Amino acid sequence: MKARRPVSARPATVGGLVHHGARSFRAARLAYGHGTSNARDEAAYLTLHALELPLDAPAQVFARRVTRRDAARVMRLFQRRIRERKPAAYLTGEAWLGDFRFHVDQRAIVPRSHIADLLHSRLAPWVPEAGRVRTALDLCTGSGCLAILAAHAFPRARIDATDISAAALAVARINVRQHRLRDRVRLIRSGGFAALRGKRYDLIVSNPPYVTDAAMHRLPREYRCEPRIALAGGGDGLDIVRVILAQAARHLRPGGLLVVEVGDGRRRAEKAYPRLPFTWLDTGGGGDVFLLAREQLAAAAPATRA
Ligand SMILES: C[S@@+](CC[C@H](N)C(=O)[O-])C[C@H]1O[C@@H](n2cnc3c(N)ncnc32)[C@H](O)[C@@H]1O
Repeated sequence: MKARRPVSARPATVGGLVHHGARSFRAARLAYGHGTSNARDEAAYLTLHALELPLDAPAQVFARRVTRRDAARVMRLFQRRIRERKPAAYLTGEAWLGDFRFHVDQRAIVPRSHIADLLHSRLAPWVPEAGRVRTALDLCTGSGCLAILAAHAFPRARIDATDISAAALAVARINVRQHRLRDRVRLIRSGGFAALRGKRYDLIVSNPPYVTDAAMHRLPREYRCEPRIALAGGGDGLDIVRVILAQAARHLRPGGLLVVEVGDGRRRAEKAYPRLPFTWLDTGGGGDVFLLAREQLAAAAPATRA
């Protein structure tokens, strides 16, 4: 008969810890989607973070032995993830979009926008020359992540980043400072475009709240740790999208572009705006993101209800 490992024993390697974490997470039926999409990746992230190992460490690192003390530190983090059901990012205080690290805490939603990838490729081919973007707006900025990525994508641009939540803007302030962009990214408290009268931009990006009322009722506990105002988009998820579509043209320069994420709301958006010539951008099968030029927004009258 195989000897059982005593209850107090800790897995002795990095890989053993990851394996143990993944098994515990599966058993606890955790929800993912805040940087990882499955139990193993979540356990690997927490393990590497707790052991202060780089997230892109080579595979050999998983064979490395760990001290009892380090193993205990990792196990405590696993236990918190299971007990508190917080997204891993709120436990570690950080989230990654590609190579960019952002501070996060529960005052702002965990960064995961699909617009991040589009900014990484500088919105090519829609923006033919990055240098031509001189002014950009990140509406609904949350942690400030998209404003910061836009500043990197468009090095000659000044960025306004707005949010209705003072708490979220406090998190954005930390990130703008950490990324040394205080001279190019301006944080503004504003509901929709209210505080932006007379301002015009070459580019507006927005990842607004877009979760429908029905989906809000079904949210896993992890997502309930995030500010409700960052998620709830009304009956069909399009409350803020409607505001954006009604007012964006006034805030875009000729030829300016609007890029908006709507989650799984593509069909609902097309139904609500049958005359708008949406371009749906390739986000690798993730969330739906549309692009419209200022001149196309003239057709932004919503469908009239029968
Ligand atoms: C889905 S989060 C996006 C945050 C960030 N852009 C990101 O991608 O991680 C939406 C943000 O919109 C803000 N928000 C909600 N209603 C708003 C409104 N009416 N005007 C401006 N911002 C709003 C929330 O506070 C939240 O920070």
